[in-house]
Amino acid sequence: MNEYLLGNYAPVTKEINETDLKVTGNIPKDLSGLLLRNGPNPMSALNEETHHWFIGQGMLHGIRLDSGNALWYKNKSVDGNDSIANTSVISHAGKIYAIVEAGGYPVEIDQELNSLNTKPFYGDENKGFTAHPKLDPNTGELHAMCYDYANKFETIDYVVIDKNGSHKKTQTIPFETRSMLHECAITENYVLVLDLSVTFSLERLGGGYFPFAWDDNHQSRIGLLDRNDESQDVRWFEIDRTYFFHTFNAYEDKNGDVVVSATAYDRLFDKDRNGPFTESSPHLTRWILDLKSGSAKSEQLDDRSIEFPRIHPDLVSKSNQFGYALASSNSKKPDFKEIVKYDFVNDSSEVYEYGSGNFGAEPVFVPSEGGNDEDEGYLLSLVYDQDTDKSDLIILNAQELSSGPLAKIHLPQRVPFGFHGDWINI
Ligand SMILES: [Fe+2]
Repeated sequence: MNEYLLGNYAPVTKEINETDLKVTGNIPKDLSGLLLRNGPNPMSALNEETHHWFIGQGMLHGIRLDSGNALWYKNKSVDGNDSIANTSVISHAGKIYAIVEAGGYPVEIDQELNSLNTKPFYGDENKGFTAHPKLDPNTGELHAMCYDYANKFETIDYVVIDKNGSHKKTQTIPFETRSMLHECAITENYVLVLDLSVTFSLERLGGGYFPFAWDDNHQSRIGLLDRNDESQDVRWFEIDRTYFFHTFNAYEDKNGDVVVSATAYDRLFDKDRNGPFTESSPHLTRWILDLKSGSAKSEQLDDRSIEFPRIHPDLVSKSNQFGYALASSNSKKPDFKEIVKYDFVNDSSEVYEYGSGNFGAEPVFVPSEGGNDEDEGYLLSLVYDQDTDKSDLIILNAQELSSGPLAKIHLPQRVPFGFHGDWINI
């Protein structure tokens, strides 16, 4: 059986709108807004052998909170702009977008999860974007590394969207390695090109499989592109073969060197053509790119299997003390039983266990209103309960994980694990 069609990886078939939600505990009054989640929800006939976790129409799940009350839960398919947009959802300049990489168009959605037929970001043009833009907290600009190898086989585009949601620039970069650029990272002066050892495979595509595969022949490297000087080429730093979908963060340290931390795999998409988790475990790994020598040092900082890292949104591109991720004790099955909070300054960590038969999704950090400390805020995570076959939204105090959830909002159905989402203050 294909693991990614079983249990809480399987799609849901109903679209529900429920206003009568049971709540255990107390929802913090300063959490007023909308938690949105996105992920593939493949409802059409599927080939079990070739089906990959990353494939399928996007399904949005939303939970609206207001002044201590849970107003509603609803889920709706992404259904606009000829796009599957199944990977994440962001808000920018007062609008909300479902997004995806590899040429798929972004889809604007409203606060009720309806898809709109606008053409986001590029004026009248419809163009692909990325699943992981980085919002610069200093400028309010979105930075994106975009690829579309089906149409542009030898280049990628570095795209900047300004703080008002309009296209500011596209810088086309020669790029013949065709690696899977799931994410980028930014520092104060650079945007990072994460050219890692998973590359586009025509052979896989021809066989009906997901068209990216582990590539032993591709040297992993991290590129630095000057954000402010388009005349500069990418400066490359070779690193041991690896792949990561997600960084915690990147920043420039006191020496001006670039520090990147990520959840890194030794190997994936090699024998396993259906998903990422069975060939190696993703580990917290840090690279320091030495700008003087041009070399990179790496260090694995933890031996837990972790994924879906998040940090305080105001610290993207800056030195951060704390990071949050899902953790799994079992590397061979794609399930996550814990949230881990890392303290990168004191080199320590803390864990919240979801409990027996409970499995979590990406913990989203939401800063407290007027908070002073970096970890002053909440972690919002959807949790699947195997016994009830339903999901809850839990809200944790990020400074007191061991105290357990402040509130649990019981949802009328399960929410498939999915990928990413965001909290939108309303
Ligand atoms: Fe991702």
